[in-house]
Amino acid sequence: MNTLVADSTPDARIREILLLGRRLVRDLAVCARTSRLYEGENVTVRRAAAQAVETLDALRAAGGEPRLEIVGEHLRIGDTRLKPDAAGHHAFRYLARRLAAIGAGAVSFSPSLSAADLIGFAKLIDPPGPARETTLSELRDALATAGIQAITVEAARDLIPVTAPREEKGAVLARASGRYFRAIRVAREILGRREPVSRIFASSKRAVRELVDSVREEETSLLALARIKNYDEYTFNHSVNVAVYSIALGQMLGLDRRSLTELGLSALFHDLGKTAIPREVLNRPGRLDAEDWEMMKLHPVFGVEQLLSAGITSRGMMRSVLVAFRHHLRRDLSGYPEVRHHRDLDLFSGIVSVADTFDALTTRRVYRRSCLLPHEAVGRMLARGPDTYEPALVKMFLRTVGVFPVGSVVRFDSGEVGIVSRTNRTEGMLARPRVRLLADGRGLPLDGPEIDLAESDARGNPLRKLVATIDPADYFPSIDDYLRSLV
Ligand SMILES: [Fe+2]
Ligand SMILES: [Fe+2]
Repeated sequence: MNTLVADSTPDARIREILLLGRRLVRDLAVCARTSRLYEGENVTVRRAAAQAVETLDALRAAGGEPRLEIVGEHLRIGDTRLKPDAAGHHAFRYLARRLAAIGAGAVSFSPSLSAADLIGFAKLIDPPGPARETTLSELRDALATAGIQAITVEAARDLIPVTAPREEKGAVLARASGRYFRAIRVAREILGRREPVSRIFASSKRAVRELVDSVREEETSLLALARIKNYDEYTFNHSVNVAVYSIALGQMLGLDRRSLTELGLSALFHDLGKTAIPREVLNRPGRLDAEDWEMMKLHPVFGVEQLLSAGITSRGMMRSVLVAFRHHLRRDLSGYPEVRHHRDLDLFSGIVSVADTFDALTTRRVYRRSCLLPHEAVGRMLARGPDTYEPALVKMFLRTVGVFPVGSVVRFDSGEVGIVSRTNRTEGMLARPRVRLLADGRGLPLDGPEIDLAESDARGNPLRKLVATIDPADYFPSIDDYLRSLV
């Protein structure tokens, strides 16, 4: 077993589960692929199956859930999203696609599982010959006939592949937007009415859990909603957007549901201390004078005071206190409040400070009509050097939101206008998303088609050249129109 077992911190536990999950996927893929090639049993298949059984035992011992979930092209073990290492990339894609083709959403393994059960299962998910695809009910019947009771296969639910029917996409977006606006209402209570934290803590947690569920289910809807920048209600939108961005980045890093909830809550509360700053100072156009600026720089400390006064001592609350204090501190301890001793910033404060800066830089404000495009904002953060923001987090963030995030309105050199419907996370392809056309070159409205900017012409050039982005608030008359265009 791995040496990490000796270290029982939550991070070490997650790393251990990730490692075992990867191993499981690799062995299952070997079983399925190899048994497709050979009649009868083969030594490679037997070895891989025996290893997979051992891995599942180790996973249980490490507190992991022996359940493999398929979400789009990703795999999850229990609550944790698996990221393939370089060598495992093909195994991941292969297994996710095989299971998705059958209509499986998750596969669970009980402790009575034997290597022979796994071999039987592997043969069923990729049968030899050019036969038509096995259906989920056929797979279940075949498992029962073979007496394999230790493997349960759940149906795929709530997945929205690119080609999903629009009603389905619409339902997921509607659910996400209900949750987003509920979170805005909670943010208004927190930051507007100035209720004590103890009174709003439970509803905040509920709202954040819903956001976490939406991101886990399908993150693009919430990322598109976070493009909504309400000029008048900046602080409320900002807090929820920072929560959405933080949760999405946390999910990309493989955090489990509980950690994502704590992270989202920390993000939602990060500017709580601003409730102690007079509104005139918060909304003053132009630069703040020295006195106001000194006052503004105290909001992290005010936030800590308010969170501590709630008297809640859960781990999540303690992490929120840390984030409230540190979200304007940079890695070299520049920023504010002033601190004397050097200590590495914790992961949550690092994530929230990236999400916070990104949302602030990409939003128009009372005192600043223009704002940066997402890739410009990320570029500016990286340009400040590794001593300010954690470069790995900033780069990961760019992969999470994309150079042109979902919901960005873009114009091509042909004059056509479209809305980004899906980002491309492949290295080197971040600036080539899928776009649904909204208007032709003469400005006449269109309802599609969807074009994939990753595709190239015979000379390897993109099919269309993107020349400008347009603020969704300038293009769509209302938020409803914006949301409708996303489906
Ligand atoms: Fe702040
Ligand atoms: Fe902020």
